[in-house]
Amino acid sequence: MASVDVAVFDAYGTLLDLNSAVARHAERVGPDWERLNTDWRTKQTEYIWVRSLAGPAQHRDFAVLTEESLRYVAKRHGIEDQALIADLHGAYGDLAAYSDAAPMLRELRERGIGRAILSNGTPAMLDQNVRAAGLTGLLDDLLSVEAVGVYKPDPRVYRLVTERYKVQPQRVAFLSSNPWDAFGAMCFGFRVFWVNRRGLPVEYGLDRTATVITGFAELPDLLT
Ligand code: LAC
Repeated sequence: MASVDVAVFDAYGTLLDLNSAVARHAERVGPDWERLNTDWRTKQTEYIWVRSLAGPAQHRDFAVLTEESLRYVAKRHGIEDQALIADLHGAYGDLAAYSDAAPMLRELRERGIGRAILSNGTPAMLDQNVRAAGLTGLLDDLLSVEAVGVYKPDPRVYRLVTERYKVQPQRVAFLSSNPWDAFGAMCFGFRVFWVNRRGLPVEYGLDRTATVITGFAELPDLLT
């Protein structure tokens, strides 16, 4: 008997490997490519939070803010090659899944546990990313913040899951590699797993409030 009804995953950085996009163009970006990737992610995250705090009229979707943050960060890194910027942007739609993602999703399916994404991404982005990463058919639902027009960690976003599945938060396993997302999900009442693949230092007290895992292999046994 599963201890939860559904496992809900963050998309970018959790199921999908964010480095895989920029890595493909590493030679053209130069030795600082990993730094560019991190800066892009940081700026993108700043934009979503600022837009959320500024109120509903200031909401812009994740596709817009992903491009806006890339353009800014490319400037900061002195990249003027518009073709390269377009390729980096395109690569975001073609991210690889972590290699342990598909086997884990298959195993959860075998064990009768629902599987969904809850992401800041737009429905169109998520659809494209899931197909490109070869995860089609392994996920029952792709839930996007666009349904509420505000970004994680606003509780209205996590509520999309309990409304969709008609369950109490404690029947939901929520997985994210982003500590701030794991924290938001924990505040909402989900059973949270922080996916800490890179052994990053603990934030938000997640060592006490979440289960810390270093990959997906152990997940099915933790849920059944
Ligand atoms: C997402 C970001 C937080 O998929 O990774 O929602």
